[in-house]
Order: sequence, then C-alpha cells, then structure tokens
Amino acid sequence: MREGTANLIRREDYQAPAFWIRTIDLTFDLDPAKTLVTAKMALERNRDVAHGPLRLHGEALNVLRVLIDGESVSFRQDGDQLVIDNAPDADFALELRNTCAPDKNTTLNGLYTSGGSFFTQCEAEGFRRITYFLDRPDVMAVYTVLLRADKAKYPVLLSNGNLLESGDLPNGRHFAKWHDPFPKPSYLFALVAGDLVAREQRVRTRAGKDHLLQVYVRRGDLEKTEHAMNSLIASIVWDEARFNLPLDLERFMIVGVSDFNMGAMENKGLNIFNTSALLASAATATDADFGRIESIVAHEYFHNWTGNRVTCRDWFQLSLKEGLTVFRDQEFSMDMAGSASARAVCRIQDVRNLRAAQFPEDSGAMAHAVRPDSYVEINNFYTTTIYEKGSEVVRMYQTLVGRAGFEAGLKLYFERHDGQAVTCDEFAAAIADANPGSALTTRLGAFKRWYSQAGTPHVQARGVYDAAAQTYTLTLTQHSRATPGQPEKLPQVIPVAMGLLSAEGQALPLQLQGEAAAVGSDHVLVLEQAEQSFVFINVSTAPVPSLLRDFSAPVILDDGLSDADLLVLLQHDSDAFNRWEAGQRLGLNRILAALHSGTALQLDQAYLDAMRALLRHPQLDAAFKELVLTLPGEGYIAEQLDIVDPQAIHAVVDSAQMQLAAALRDDWIGAFEANQVKGGYSPDPVSSGKRALANLALSMLVMDAPRVQDTVWPGRAYQRFKDAGNMTDRLGALTALVNAHAELADSALERFHELFKDDPLVVDKWFALQGRAPEQDGKTFARVKQLAKHADFTLKNPNRARSLIFSLCMYNPAAFHRADAAGYVFWAEQVLALDAINPQIASRLARVMDRWNSLAPAYRSAALEAIRRVAAKADLSNDVREVISRALA
Ligand code: PHE
Ligand code: ZN
Repeated sequence: MREGTANLIRREDYQAPAFWIRTIDLTFDLDPAKTLVTAKMALERNRDVAHGPLRLHGEALNVLRVLIDGESVSFRQDGDQLVIDNAPDADFALELRNTCAPDKNTTLNGLYTSGGSFFTQCEAEGFRRITYFLDRPDVMAVYTVLLRADKAKYPVLLSNGNLLESGDLPNGRHFAKWHDPFPKPSYLFALVAGDLVAREQRVRTRAGKDHLLQVYVRRGDLEKTEHAMNSLIASIVWDEARFNLPLDLERFMIVGVSDFNMGAMENKGLNIFNTSALLASAATATDADFGRIESIVAHEYFHNWTGNRVTCRDWFQLSLKEGLTVFRDQEFSMDMAGSASARAVCRIQDVRNLRAAQFPEDSGAMAHAVRPDSYVEINNFYTTTIYEKGSEVVRMYQTLVGRAGFEAGLKLYFERHDGQAVTCDEFAAAIADANPGSALTTRLGAFKRWYSQAGTPHVQARGVYDAAAQTYTLTLTQHSRATPGQPEKLPQVIPVAMGLLSAEGQALPLQLQGEAAAVGSDHVLVLEQAEQSFVFINVSTAPVPSLLRDFSAPVILDDGLSDADLLVLLQHDSDAFNRWEAGQRLGLNRILAALHSGTALQLDQAYLDAMRALLRHPQLDAAFKELVLTLPGEGYIAEQLDIVDPQAIHAVVDSAQMQLAAALRDDWIGAFEANQVKGGYSPDPVSSGKRALANLALSMLVMDAPRVQDTVWPGRAYQRFKDAGNMTDRLGALTALVNAHAELADSALERFHELFKDDPLVVDKWFALQGRAPEQDGKTFARVKQLAKHADFTLKNPNRARSLIFSLCMYNPAAFHRADAAGYVFWAEQVLALDAINPQIASRLARVMDRWNSLAPAYRSAALEAIRRVAAKADLSNDVREVISRALA
C-alpha cells in the first residue's frame, strides 16, 4: 500500500462546511518573537449539512482563550483542530486569542519575518498558522484588521482593502485599521508590517474612478520598481479592454519580499511578490526577467477577477483560477508583444516551457489530472499541470468557440458566479451555455476528460494523397498511456488546427468532403475518437500537412513527416509556430537517430544549410531565429526516450552544438555584428530579440574558439562582459565564457561577484550560472559542492536554494546524473536539510526524482537507493513524504 494514504484527501469526499464565518475582526499585536492575535468572528450554522461540532483548523499556535458570545466555552484539541462540541444553533460570536512566533517560522507560510519586516502567506492553508479558522476557500468572510506595532521598526502597516484609520499609541507603538469590503476566503488574507517605501501612481479607469497604485519595497530598491508599476498599469488597461473587467478597489498594493516560496500571491488588494518577480533595472535584470515580471504582475492582477471575485470551492478546483489566469497572462503578454512575429515568439516560449516541465510531470510518478482526485499535501499540487496544462485547456475552449465566444462565456461566468466559490464544472457550463451549438457545447462531456485524465495524449497523423481523385485523406489516431491510478484512458477532444501546403510552400485551399465550399487555408479539425479520417477534396497536388498549428492542443504529435516535408514547413509555413517546430524536429530527429544507433552524431549538409539559410534570412526577426537555432533541451530529448542515459544525451547535444558552431562560424560572426542594439536599454521584443541572437552567436563563437585556436572571440566576450550596459549583455557574455569553459571564465565570475555582491538577486544569477554550467570532467559538480559552502549560500532563502541546488539537480542533468551516484547522494542530503527548514521547497527538490524509473539501469538503481534513503527518515514532512511515496509506488 502506498504510504501516506492515511492522510489522503479525496475530491469525492467534499462536504460543505458545517458553519459559515460571515465577518472577522482581527487584531495583531506584532512582535517577532511572540505575536498576539485576537479574532472576533460572526458564525452561523450551515443548515444544509448535518448538525455537528465546530472544528477549526490551527497549526503551530498557542491558544489563550476561546469565548462564545462573551462566555468562555469548553473546547478540545483533535490533532491540528480545535473542536467545540456544543456550539449554539443560533448565530453566535466567537472570540479567540492566540499567539504565534513569526521569527521561528522558516516555512514561509502563515505569519513570518523577512529582513526585519512581517509578511504573511496564506495560500493554500497558511491562515491556520495565524489563528484558528475554517481555513477552506468556500468559507468567505468580510475582514477588518487592526495592526499594532513598534512605529520606528515598522512604520508601514498594511492589510487588504481600504485604510480606515491610523495613529499613534503609547510606548512608541502605532496602529492602522484596514477594512476589505469584499467577502474573501482566508487564503487571500494578507498583512505586511515593516520599514518599506512605495512608488505611487494614481490612475483613472474607464468608468471614471480614481485608484491609488503602490509598489512597496525596501528603501534601496525603489528605482527597480518602475517596470512593475508600468506592468500593473498595462494589466489594468488590458483587462478592461479585452474582458471588460475593471479594477474594483480604491487602492491596489504590491509588496516585495526576498524570502518567498513562490513567484507571487494575489491577496485581495495586497499582492505580495517574491522580489525576483518584481524588481528590475537595466543593470541588474535580464530581458527574460523583464518579461517574467510583466507576466507575473499581470497574473496576480488578473486573479482579482479570476480567483478572487470568483474563487474555488475546494483545492481540487485549483486550476479553475490558475489555468484560467495563466491563460489570461499569456494572452496579455502576446498582446503586449505586438507584432505577429513577437506573438509567435511568446507562444513558442510558452510551449517550450510546457514541454520541458509539464510533459515530464505527466509521464512521471506525480502525474495528475488538471483536476486531481486526491492529494496528501495541497502545496504539492501547485504544479505545471494545474497551471500550464490548465491554461492549454482554457485555450482549447477559446479555439473551439472562437475569441468572441470565449469572451461571451467569461462574461456569463461572472454574471452567474461573482462572489461565489465554484468548481471547474461551473466554468465549463458558462463557456458552453454562452455558445450553444458550438464545437465545444455539442461534446462538452467528452471535452471535460481534459480535467479528469492525467497524461499527455499521443496523436499520430498519416496522410494519403490520391492524385487521380484529387483527394487527401488524413487519418488521425490518439492514444494516452496509463498513469498512476489511471490504467485506462478514453479518447479526448483534441482541436487540431491545420493547413496544407504544396511542395513549393503554397497554402492550399481546404475543402472537406461533404462540405459545399472551401474553408480557407487554415482550419480546426476536431479529433474525438480513437481514430478518425478527414478527406479533403479538390487537392491539386500532393500536400505537406501542417498540423497542430499554434500548438492547438497539449499533445505529442507524430506526423511522420520526412526531412523534405519539414524543410518545406521550415521555409514556408504561414504558421510561425510550426515553422519553428519543423526546425526543432529536424534537429531532434538527428539527435535521436544518433542516440538510438549509439553512434557519433554527424550533422548533414542539408540540415546545416537549412539552419544557415534561416540565420541569414532577411525577413525573419532575430528573436525567432534565436529560437529556431537553439537545439531542443536535454530534458525534452529525454522525454522522447524509453530509457534515458543523461550522459549520452549530453554528449550528443554537445556535439550537435559544436558542429553548428563550427559549420556556421562566419554566419555567427555576421549575426553577432548585425544584432548590436544601439542607444539606451529597452526590453522591447525587437531589442531583446537582437540581444538574444547576439548572445547565442557569441556563445557559439566562444565555444568554437579552441577548434580554430582563436583568442579574439573569448577576448571580445570578456570585454563585452566588462563593458556591457545592461545585464542581458553582461550575463550573456559571462555565460558564453562559462559554458565554453573558457580560460577567462573564472576571472569573469570573480569580477561579477565583486561587482554585485550586495544585490541578492544578482548573486542568485551568479550561483545559478555555475549550477547550470555544462558538465566537463565533473568540474561543475565539484564547483557546486564547493559553492554550497560559500559564505553567501544559505538554504533558508528559497531563491538562493533554487539558484544553486535546483540549478544542478533540476536543470543540469549531465552534472547531476553521475556514474558514481554522488549527485544523488547530494540530492538526498539537500532534501533532508531543506525539509527541516521549509517542507514546501524540500518537496519541490524531491520531485527531481519523479522520472527515476526511466533512467538507464546504472543510474536507476543508484537513484532508487537515494530515494529510499530519504524515505527512511522517520519525521519527513507530509510534503516530501507524498512525493517520495509516489516515486516508490
Ligand atoms: N496563487 C499564486 C499564484 O498563482 C501562487 C502561490 C501559491 C503563491 C501558493 C504562494 C503560495 O499567483
Ligand atoms: Zn496564480
């Protein structure tokens, strides 16, 4: 039997709460060692459920008193619950007093301190570490919050909603009282107290209302908040324009904190951000950071409607808010990018991330549905399946009902459910009901298998052209592999956006048999059975199919296309995504062939010519070229194999890269020269695309230098590293030196640290770069072990732990999967050390072993041994226990 099933929480066991909490008045006497919390709540029995005791959640709390209607009442502890057996039948007032210890709270859930200030994190179940409560998202209350603290140490006191009053108290203390008019679940509660400063901006929205926007950070960081503020304003404008969703609060605050488990949190009116997702300046943040900040600021802001105004009934519905909000932030980023080509670049990056992270999750030990059936620890289910696959599911709704239909569906969703805590079924029903007769609505039941079935569907496509009849018959089949607990799968509803091209690259008109007219040259087929054939008529020439355009469904496609077909698509497809995909496939096919045959990779002239032509192409954007010329990642390649040898994969990819570097040497020089950005720094798509391509070219040239005994390009890289006017160029040059193991790499690294040692986010980059450096003779691994003892290293700060440990274990397979198993031993040590500090982060690291079962035998047995070593620890957290148990199941 699977360990930990005793704590298993099942979706089918959902029951409405026995009580509602309508209002809560909280008073905090803030003290880092011992904070006193007083909570006065208005409770009401839920008459729809069986009469029972009042059970409140509480963790790591010290209860001082419990009063009902002003009288003390008897209660008992049952595990982490406080139980009151004889709660009144009539509405009543419950008053609680308890303490907690923010300074000792290293979990970063509940109330904790960071850099001398107070912060909270309540999603998913952190509120119970603040006071006893019905800590579940379907219990929504109106909050009034009084904060009291030392005025000198904590001049800023914030909570959700509007500031009612503030003033001084005796003994150097002061207070602030906040009120949030919107009933909300406890996971959206937040408070902040500290010595912070704010960038402020007043905006007027379309409805003519004035709003105050604030971004709070530590004193020295104010100049790094401009981009976040601009992103917030752009998000507000976009949500009004695209979905008619306005800002509903007079004041909207964002606060940065450097100790944070995730990217950011959408607390009502008081978003709390990991500084890594908030702070940016040209000198300290890369183009990628600027893009990520824009999308996370938007994501949290968009939650105000999709998550806060309409929230989740229970945590199994997490993707209701996360998938939808990721979809919204992805759409926003595409709209912000502007040009069709820049949109495609966004889409390609999103899909690349999905395949690099979600596809492996879907085929590993932790595979779960977008709406899981059970969990032990909900923190383990903030996954790329819930977020990114969830977003792809929402995108498929839009593909099936069209953009206008989707907007109408979302409108209906808010009309029906504003102020409610609902399930994914309500979302599906709203989109379907707003689009009667649509391709979605007529097959909604089958479509919803996307919520219940884990695993990535495999789609095979084969076409037969009949020259005499002028028909093209496209046969699509689908199949999903078994995942843990789901041996059998049913066919899913898969929108396949497609077109047909002539061998010369001309788009052909599409006319399906039985239809009166052609449907243009771009069409969405709906695959819903295990096998289906689509017959196109009046096809004048043998076509090359372009399938799954824009990645219209999260599936693995085998289209059986030849090199010649792929070259047609690479050169001519009107769909930029499939153009990129064709280039990737050409590279991937060669890498896989070498791996399957166990022979050295020899890139052929046709492939190199195609890549050269692309690099030289006069019309294509630099950003797009950079994406095509970047080979598939080692993790993605591993996904294509039944038995994974990380060292073999690394060797082949390394060789492919060297050959690309050598064969295209002159073109890399040309690309580097042609893509220099002049003038002041701006992270716009055109400039950042040029920097990306120039950085790739520089990496290639430094990598290729030893072959031709060149010292010029390593020297130029070092010079550029020293003189760079922005972090993208500086880090790009440094990466080129480090990844090529250039002689100058060490002195550049030293210089970088010296320059930025006072900026934690840049020091994180310094650790990460070394943790991700390509392995050579075990040097990278040895360096990481050394760096783990560096004065700047600590496991207590999640960003720092991620920068070094996760970089190695998660993003550097060849350095991590060692023949001597030292990587696994290191992993086990770090998981156990982290688990004692922060189980949520430890459990993320534990997930590195999700796919141990597909490793080649030598690695496999060593990995298993390390997993067992972790499992043997008696007092593992629920978080790590669940992940490890699933790996061993
Ligand atoms: N809900 C947050 C988001 O998606 C993520 C988060 C989850 C943050 C849990 C903290 C804790 O934006
Ligand atoms: Zn979110």
